[in-house]
Amino acid sequence: MSKILPVRSPSADNGSIATFVAALPKAELHLHIEGTLEPELMFAIAARNGVRLPYSSVEEVRAAYEFSSLQDFLDIYYAGANALLELQDFYDLTWAYLEKAFTQNVRHAEIFFDPQTHTGRGVAFATVVDGISRALDDAQARLGISSRLIMCFLRHLDEADALRTLDEAMACRDRIAGVGLDSSERGNPPGKFREVFRRARAAGFIAVAHAGEEGPAEYVREALDVLEVVRIDHGNNALDDAGLVAELAQRRIPLTVCPLSNVKLRVVDDIARHPLKRMLDLGLFVTVNSDDPAYFGGYVNENYIAVAEALDLGRTELAQLAGNSIDASLLDSEAKSVLHAELDTAVHRFG
Ligand code: ADE
Ligand code: ZN
Repeated sequence: MSKILPVRSPSADNGSIATFVAALPKAELHLHIEGTLEPELMFAIAARNGVRLPYSSVEEVRAAYEFSSLQDFLDIYYAGANALLELQDFYDLTWAYLEKAFTQNVRHAEIFFDPQTHTGRGVAFATVVDGISRALDDAQARLGISSRLIMCFLRHLDEADALRTLDEAMACRDRIAGVGLDSSERGNPPGKFREVFRRARAAGFIAVAHAGEEGPAEYVREALDVLEVVRIDHGNNALDDAGLVAELAQRRIPLTVCPLSNVKLRVVDDIARHPLKRMLDLGLFVTVNSDDPAYFGGYVNENYIAVAEALDLGRTELAQLAGNSIDASLLDSEAKSVLHAELDTAVHRFG
């Protein structure tokens, strides 16, 4: 484990957007831990595990990160995850992300993992959860970052596989806060996972789902009505349905939006046309997140900065987004109040 890092003290002497964003305490609510695997760590872990990667160098890996669609990305992302075999690999992966998050003033992280990506290769469910959890515990103790773990079902697989995964998760019930739904969206509507979500909710897991990233507004509607999710991951295409937008706003359903991901996966053709500002103007409860930062060219602060610059967001809107990330989290009201007080202090320092 790395040594304790110095406490950050963002200074208010530089008026740049980047300095302001860095000073804001934030919660990251849409972050796939497998998507934080930087090429250097991928190579180091693959080498010690004797795993052959389909690349000969770190440079070649980075050069492969030009995606034409979600599926194009997922093929590469699952290939990278093949390096991960041992508990220590999951620990190192998670710790590396948390150290990075610390430097960006992430105070709380809700982290997705894809158990089927690993159990399908013979890695035990508990190996994955224990490795990640130990790093999360260390981050709470040493970096002051709180966290929750959310396991995602892979929507390209069938519901029977998801049900078996839920059964396996029960042995680690106390370590997992919720269930989610990710992977190839088109052709895999939320309704395909009705029963596994019903059982997960009955077992006390909160439910979230990716919807409206590449799939239609109808999938967002189904995630709400059939899976009874408390948050929508992405949600961009909800904007095609005015009635749905009104309901999302009225019910204050958080959307975990990922701007750089949207550009990299061609959900949005240009960051200047990203719908985040429109979402805010429509009264939607939006948050900014990084999704798979090792693949998309930026962690959470780079996402805030990208939309601030491209959409001309001011400090008030950036502070609102940070506040939304706190409110949309699974933290209890006391922990939210603590972070809100820190946020107020940070904002006031900038006058
Ligand atoms: N898995 C990792 N990142 C994802 C994304 N952006 N959409 C769906 N599944 C994912
Ligand atoms: Zn995602």
